[in-house]
Amino acid sequence: MKDDLQKKVAEAIRDPKNIGEMSDADSVGTVGNSECGEMLRLWVKYREQDGQKVIDKASFQSFGCETAIAVASLATELIQGKTAAEALEMKPEELSGELGPLPPMKIHCAELVQGALRDALSPEDQSLGQAESPAKPGKLSLTLQDSLNEGQAKSGGINIQFLDD
Ligand code: FES
Repeated sequence: MKDDLQKKVAEAIRDPKNIGEMSDADSVGTVGNSECGEMLRLWVKYREQDGQKVIDKASFQSFGCETAIAVASLATELIQGKTAAEALEMKPEELSGELGPLPPMKIHCAELVQGALRDALSPEDQSLGQAESPAKPGKLSLTLQDSLNEGQAKSGGINIQFLDD
């Protein structure tokens, strides 16, 4: 079972989907895990479909473990075409997609992705057609590395939400 998961994770990260920052994103979410120090940022772009605002595409950057990268890769595919509300309803095990159930010690890796998704899809970030959300100025223009550097250079320069275990 463990070998099976490792194979699926290795397969997913061999050719990760939707990796990298998205310059024309409508929203962005960043999350960190204080226990393992992993961080993940997720960008979302919306489109109008049948009178609804749905997720057109999503991308991510991660200073995370292989499982978090694999889940983020799968999740950015799985949320395409969903409304923000539908994506927000997805549980970590759903975001893990074809990886299947994660062992207890790896569940927080999927929760990291869920946390970034929640941050990106929070109502104040849903600003279709606007370059940046006034509620989180500058967030869209920074890479995860930029944010880390800025955060280290001046306290309060980065808004990272740490997940509770
Ligand atoms: Fe912490 Fe995977 S070990 S996110």
